[in-house]
Amino acid sequence: MGSLAPLLPGTVALVGGGPGDAGLMTVAGRSAVEQADVLLVDHLAPEEALAWARPDALVVDVAKLPRGAFTPQERINDLLVEHARRGRRVVRLKGGDGFVFGRGMEEVLACTEADVPVRVIPGVTSSVAVPALGGIPVTHRGVVQGFSVISGHVPPGHPASTLDYGALARSGTTLIVLMGVATLPAITEALMENGLDPATPAAVIARGGHPDQQVVSGSVADIAVRAAHVEPPAITVIGEVASFAAATDTHVLEEVI
Ligand SMILES: C[S@@+](CC[C@H](N)C(=O)[O-])C[C@H]1O[C@@H](n2cnc3c(N)ncnc32)[C@H](O)[C@@H]1O
Repeated sequence: MGSLAPLLPGTVALVGGGPGDAGLMTVAGRSAVEQADVLLVDHLAPEEALAWARPDALVVDVAKLPRGAFTPQERINDLLVEHARRGRRVVRLKGGDGFVFGRGMEEVLACTEADVPVRVIPGVTSSVAVPALGGIPVTHRGVVQGFSVISGHVPPGHPASTLDYGALARSGTTLIVLMGVATLPAITEALMENGLDPATPAAVIARGGHPDQQVVSGSVADIAVRAAHVEPPAITVIGEVASFAAATDTHVLEEVI
């Protein structure tokens, strides 16, 4: 079944909505939104994409804001299954790609365990698109041959952290940190303690692709201080390619000058 095949009643489509600008959604994602009877929408999904939904479609906000509005994952899973069992075409619209720190597979499993057919429509992940929107390529010939995408939702050394910061510091890859605004000081410290050169370029891109996008540049030694005022959602890029960042944050530039 191709990604543009019609959505059938009683099925779920897990749609990656891209980094926030509706123009960066896929054609298949838009088609699913247009057909949906019910849309379950995350806070980072592109709001403007809801204009493509049918006027009679039911839109349910299931935001999971850090320290804010919260719909437990189990409740979202139940809603997907309940609406599909009522014969509706259900679209689960998420930010970025549903399988990159998006709990997408949990939702796929909830559907398959309930015998609800589910289709995955991949999205443009912010982990690559947001750096690009800030002028940063995640790889660059002759400079870096790979990139590592990590979650900073818990700091290094936290019992729930599964990351090896020594290996990351030595990896020779561009490091891309999602959900790491509050933990950036601890993350940059851990990388330097593990041997990463403090002069390594770094950049923070906040609200990538939105009219109020901010790009803050610096080095791994000072990026946490320079970007201390930045609010989520933001992505930090650490590595030589970060020197390509197109700085747009006049607040920081004024301070530096
Ligand atoms: C829960 S993760 C979801 C990632 C998503 N599934 C993806 O593939 O892009 C949310 C994090 O993605 C990053 N993010 C998503 N959209 C962003 C944007 N437009 N600008 C900056 N960061 C963004 C931030 O680090 C944010 O905290």
